[in-house]
Amino acid sequence: MKNLAENFGCSRSGTPNGSDPIGLFDSGVGGLTVLREMYRQLPNESLLYFGDTARLPYGTRSQCEIIQFVREILHWMVERRAKMVIMACNTSSALAIETVRQEFPSLPILGVILPGASAAARQGKRIGVISTPATAASDAYRQAILEVDSTAEVWQIGCPEFVPLIEQGRIDDPYTYKVAQTYLQPLLDRNIDTLIYGCTHYPHLAPVLKSIVPSSVQFIDPAVSVAKAASQELEILGLRNLQSPLPTQFYVSGDPQPFVEVARKWLGHHTIVQQVALSESVAVG
Ligand code: DGL
Repeated sequence: MKNLAENFGCSRSGTPNGSDPIGLFDSGVGGLTVLREMYRQLPNESLLYFGDTARLPYGTRSQCEIIQFVREILHWMVERRAKMVIMACNTSSALAIETVRQEFPSLPILGVILPGASAAARQGKRIGVISTPATAASDAYRQAILEVDSTAEVWQIGCPEFVPLIEQGRIDDPYTYKVAQTYLQPLLDRNIDTLIYGCTHYPHLAPVLKSIVPSSVQFIDPAVSVAKAASQELEILGLRNLQSPLPTQFYVSGDPQPFVEVARKWLGHHTIVQQVALSESVAVG
């Protein structure tokens, strides 16, 4: 296999600067939930967002495919001088992080699973995780939670219908409510005290999920903890941005228009989104 670590060294000119952007990626609009948290906790950083909408959903793909997609994205982000990359995608974090950390040894790469699992293990004992089928099958959340608290109980449910419904903007559709009820019922039957959004798309469904789950259940959004971890890591590496941040750069691999619409709703402002084949780009917005 081609040595991407070498590519990382070659394609990047010079050492990283604090003013370089932090890269975030997801299969689509899910990572916007992490982006929003980055705006809140690290308002001074410049951000570069990539949504792999042409190859979405990731959650029903094989580990091999996901590793290859993540490799391509990281390579592209390195070319665009990302000083750090946040995998704003649980599926990638569950299935690819270990491999790509070895392939890009000098790039700080943060995933959402460990920060999310630690936050949940500190809060609850009976923990439900809703995620893509690939994340659920990887068992990554259970393993990470048990590392922190070996007495916790964990139930993981794969929810294949959620991502397409969210990408289509069908949050208020009664069908989405029905699907959510079906996915959540086994967790409600277990009397969970904590529920992890184990897919970055799912906080978009918060109003629906919160109307089904008792108010005593605490929701954990790993975005909050990963943004905090990013902040600590930048401090340790001496890579905080000390200049004014640049506007966020948005790229997608598929049609930019649906992304522009969800981003407007979720972020509350208009965004310019460019389509990129990870080598060329066309602006829309
Ligand atoms: N939002 C992503 C995640 O956190 C991926 C969803 C998908 O494409 O299936 O897993």
